[in-house]
Amino acid sequence: MSLENPDQAPTRLADLRVHYDQGHLDLGDLPSDPLSAFQAWLEDAVAAQLPEPNAMVLSTGDQNGQPSSRTVLLKNADERGLIFYTNLQSRKSREIWENPHASVVFPWFAMHRQVCVVGSVSPISRTEAQEYFISRPRDSKIGAWVSEQSTVIADRSILDARFDEFSRRYPDEIPMPDNWGGWLIVPRTIEFWQGRPSRLHDRLRFHRTMESGNFNDPTAWAVERLSP
Ligand SMILES: Cc1cc2nc3c(=O)[nH]c(=O)nc-3n(C[C@H](O)[C@H](O)[C@H](O)COP(=O)(O)O)c2cc1C
Repeated sequence: MSLENPDQAPTRLADLRVHYDQGHLDLGDLPSDPLSAFQAWLEDAVAAQLPEPNAMVLSTGDQNGQPSSRTVLLKNADERGLIFYTNLQSRKSREIWENPHASVVFPWFAMHRQVCVVGSVSPISRTEAQEYFISRPRDSKIGAWVSEQSTVIADRSILDARFDEFSRRYPDEIPMPDNWGGWLIVPRTIEFWQGRPSRLHDRLRFHRTMESGNFNDPTAWAVERLSP
């Protein structure tokens, strides 16, 4: 297959490849608990000015095992796990209600890194979601009312009309819609991947050895190296 570019010779996908040589990853390079390790890499991604360093590709699956993926923004990482916000009736949320497991990937390509997380998912409290909701810009709050996320709409004018309607309805304070909230991913495994030359990449995976252990409790996790 080739990608046509009028100014250049066609690009062949088979010829696109990157030499991975930005670093290495050994046990001693990471803090001993997975939360601190994740935060250290996230800080590296922020410092490197990667676009949307907190964007993660979230995969869910319905009760028949049919998978689906999309990008969401990580809004908090703490001793419980990873939190993102969304419409609670969206496709992703319907799948999570049916099958409360998910995986996420942080694709930090420019640093030749990725982090992959697998875990169970549960809703956060309305109070906690509210705390985040009030911090959002006004237009984003109105947007949460406007969009019946993942439903089919006839055309864009429906969104514009609803935006005007909700802007008039809530001239001052904008309450959080009932169908909006946050999900907590409680990691079972978290893998740190660093690209290396010759495709002999470094892969270190933390896996939970103690069900009740926190994300930041080093005694609740073991680390293993995976073949690239
Ligand atoms: C960089 C980026 C960040 C996004 N962040 C969110 C988010 O935090 N929450 C959200 O609901 N959708 C977010 N979206 C939109 C989702 O990718 C997706 O289109 C939407 O949530 C509907 O997904 P669904 O129909 O699978 O439920 C983001 C998209 C991009 C490209």
